[in-house]
Amino acid sequence: RVAGPCVLVLFGVTGDLARKKLLPAIYDLANRGLLPPGFAVVGFARRDWEHQDFRQVAHDAVKEHARTPFREEVWNQLSEGIHFVPGTFDDDEAFELLATTVRELDEKRGTGGNYAFYLSIPPKFFQDVVKQLQRSGLSKPSEDSWRRVVIEKPFGHDLASAQELNHILHEVFPEESIFRIDHYLGKETVQNILALRFANTLYEPIWNRSYVDHVQITMAEDIGIGGRAGYFDGIGAARDVIQNHLLQLLALTAMEEPVSFDAESVRAEKAKILSAVRLPPDLDTYTVRGQYAAGWQGGVKVPGFREEEGIARGSRTDTYAAMRLDIDTRRWAGVPFYLRTGKRLPRRATEVALMFQKAPHLPFSQTDTEELGQNALIIRVQPDEGVTLRFGSKVPGTSMEVRDVNMDFDYGESFTESSPEAYERLLLDVLIGDPPLFPRQEEVELSWKILDPVEEYWEKHGEPQDYPSGTWGPTVADEMMARDGRAWRRL
Ligand code: BG6
Repeated sequence: RVAGPCVLVLFGVTGDLARKKLLPAIYDLANRGLLPPGFAVVGFARRDWEHQDFRQVAHDAVKEHARTPFREEVWNQLSEGIHFVPGTFDDDEAFELLATTVRELDEKRGTGGNYAFYLSIPPKFFQDVVKQLQRSGLSKPSEDSWRRVVIEKPFGHDLASAQELNHILHEVFPEESIFRIDHYLGKETVQNILALRFANTLYEPIWNRSYVDHVQITMAEDIGIGGRAGYFDGIGAARDVIQNHLLQLLALTAMEEPVSFDAESVRAEKAKILSAVRLPPDLDTYTVRGQYAAGWQGGVKVPGFREEEGIARGSRTDTYAAMRLDIDTRRWAGVPFYLRTGKRLPRRATEVALMFQKAPHLPFSQTDTEELGQNALIIRVQPDEGVTLRFGSKVPGTSMEVRDVNMDFDYGESFTESSPEAYERLLLDVLIGDPPLFPRQEEVELSWKILDPVEEYWEKHGEPQDYPSGTWGPTVADEMMARDGRAWRRL
């Protein structure tokens, strides 16, 4: 799979995402030979830059963040195609210049009149940019060329705003030209959930309510809010990652087998599962939100969320969120899915854990099985990517003592191939026009439908619970599990 000729227009090139992820991913794709000679990047931003300045920024970003080694000849070839157009989103002339620039590139570099527009900008500017693309004639393809528009989350902050955003996009671009990035879907380990489930016979017979007691989906981060106060305050952990990453993990774990792996079939199965998700009637008991207080992390004293720079002193924004969701299908009836995410937790770890029912009877004495828990299948999304099967095993010795052990599959040990960064994979899919890894609008809306009542409830009822930085979140999250006779996995 190699991309065909095209121009990638990046809006928001001065942001963190461009520097840390997008520009390095472009270089890595070039380095792996996945970009054609007829490829160009045009940056657009409110900066007084010449092409050369942007090339320098891109060069530094690549040197610092690219995954693959720096090769002068690859960089030189790529860099010749890097251009810059200065301007603001309300500046008609700047968009005229953009149009002239990309058309010249078609002539000079053979980019074939194909343009992908990457909107790595705050959503409040989407409308301006989309309108400008339309006005300048850039959004309209000729018969033998294509246009694609890539947008980053947040896709709105609730159902109504997501629909509004979609309306803005659809006025100019058809749904099949819109690529919504949920970078979790670009991760190898996330795609592997489908391989694990549907390329094997082993798991399917037990992947249901007859064997699974419950499922835990965890996305724990040790970082705080860093320099993202402006984005995060008022948004919170649930909107930031449950609405997208965690619900996508849930959908991939719970969905039925698609008839094929084309975009429509995969997305249809995910949408079915998302529409079967049911919130618990008692949101007070089964949803938890927390906010990190000052504490210690990795031996360093760190400030609380409300003391972070740029955060309102009385902020009620959640930095931790947990909830129980049920899925009304034959496969999952009575099997709760517990989701949790938080910042400033003790360590970074994302996983999906299927916790199996306990053996109905143990022919061993209680003292011999004291350390026996539940069988579990754990899909380790990151950082140490792999799969773990946890089961009881006899402890070597003269008595029949049984203890839990792990059987591990590690990517690093089993494969010599290095995995591409999520953005590399997703960018390539955009340039090729391959949509299965991009959520469609229906999924976005269904996810907001799940989250909206929770956010509304939280808005009306009380404050988030404090938890000291460097701990596993508010104790009420443990109480929520204990009430169901369960406990969070210790990570
Ligand atoms: C982003 C969220 O989508 O994902 C961030 O906005 C979060 O708040 C990030 O830190 C985590 O991504 P990853 O790939 O490091 O798990």
